[in-house]
Amino acid sequence: MPQCLITTLKPVKTGAVYRGDCTNILVTYIPDNSIDLIYIDPPFFTNQDYEVLWKDGYELRAFEDRWKGGIENYIAWMEPKLRECHRVLKPSGSIYLHCDWHAVHYLKLLMDRILGIGNFRSDVVWQRTFSHGDARRRFMNISDHILFYSKSDDYFFQQQYQPYSKEYTDQYYNKVDKNGRRYQLVSLRSPHPRPNLTYDYKGYKPHPNGWAVSREVMEELDRAGKLYFPKEKTGTIREIYYLDEQKGVPCSDIWLDIPPVSAHAKERLGFPTQKPEALLDRIIRSSSKPTDIVLDPMCGCGTAIAVAHKLGRRWIGIDVSPTACKLMTDRMRKLKVEGMELLGMPMTIDEIRALPPFEFQNWVCQKLMARVSEKKVGDMGVDGRLFDGSPLQVKQSENIGRNVIDNFETAIRRMKKSKGIIVALSFGKGAYEEVARAKNQDGVEIELKTVEDIIAEE
Ligand SMILES: C[S@@+](CC[C@H](N)C(=O)[O-])C[C@H]1O[C@@H](n2cnc3c(N)ncnc32)[C@H](O)[C@@H]1O
Repeated sequence: MPQCLITTLKPVKTGAVYRGDCTNILVTYIPDNSIDLIYIDPPFFTNQDYEVLWKDGYELRAFEDRWKGGIENYIAWMEPKLRECHRVLKPSGSIYLHCDWHAVHYLKLLMDRILGIGNFRSDVVWQRTFSHGDARRRFMNISDHILFYSKSDDYFFQQQYQPYSKEYTDQYYNKVDKNGRRYQLVSLRSPHPRPNLTYDYKGYKPHPNGWAVSREVMEELDRAGKLYFPKEKTGTIREIYYLDEQKGVPCSDIWLDIPPVSAHAKERLGFPTQKPEALLDRIIRSSSKPTDIVLDPMCGCGTAIAVAHKLGRRWIGIDVSPTACKLMTDRMRKLKVEGMELLGMPMTIDEIRALPPFEFQNWVCQKLMARVSEKKVGDMGVDGRLFDGSPLQVKQSENIGRNVIDNFETAIRRMKKSKGIIVALSFGKGAYEEVARAKNQDGVEIELKTVEDIIAEE
């Protein structure tokens, strides 16, 4: 059974976005028992690459969700992350793990092992989309699962409410008072015999069981105008429930009322798998109080931290992707977050060389203020356009040779330009010779830049 010992009083830095693998960041920076709420939305084991071109073309956002080696590899990859999440949670804290049918059953078992089966609270089923044409011989798959666990029995939870359905209000709140307020009349009879609540009120007799409320409460309701007195004294007093005073229906574990981020949604940032703010709003309100600390260890474009900020919570975001971190810090800046820190962006040559290809391309384009090329196939090796429209090619490889320069020269001419830049890890002697030839013979200027050159220019 997991233990919840308070072992540290080290302060935790909030208002921070960390770039890096979340296990490493949690181990290094986040003390034990310091976080009130974790929302984690990992890649779902979908065997797809999500790649989305940012609509203005300046950034390419992508992350890998391919699991060679199957579900065991995926679970082995998730386990240390979830163990670290458990360590950093306060004893009163909660964790919500967002997943879908691909891995939910495996993740449930893993979470039971790490958090303790007794701390499982809900498997929220969120209707993520409306319909799919992909289900001919099975049921349409339109839901995600959000597994909610607390760290102990002593956890914070604030009930949330959903509005009543129209059918419900039409059926029950079908009376309207002289001020236009909809109401229903509710019985005041005690469900069980209560001799101490058996009294006459203003000449009206109670039900044989007695009233549901004491005389004092009855008088309070009367003063507040919340009692209905029938004309005949033989009738029964009833309580008036106004529709506009009701909170709604307590949220169940089936959430059908939060639409996905649609193509036209105002909040849409173009990040693949961006979650709607309304979803995070419900989670954060349910399981944290203002000024509590909310952590998202795989925070993508930062939905959880943005909502946490809007709700007056403190927050920490982590993501391994520099592109995601940049996007989420831009999002937080738009919310006028003060004193935010962005930590761990790749700085050393080795870190930059080791970036995944899309991230490497993004990094180069950002540094040279180039626009990422929208075409990926048949773009004649042009990965971006510099501010004057001339082409940029990005190669994440060493010892680039003569043929690359030749092909790039052809691309430059086809684009009716006279210059361009190639960025690579290193260039061979033949590449420099070919650049000199292109300039002297054809008047085409090709600049060769390495990652070291770009860093040195900063
Ligand atoms: C499903 S997305 C999160 C989307 C996010 N909830 C939102 O609304 O934008 C998963 C994220 O996990 C990140 N990720 C994958 N592996 C990671 C790791 N080891 N550490 C931290 N982040 C990771 C990916 O870069 C991606 O941004």
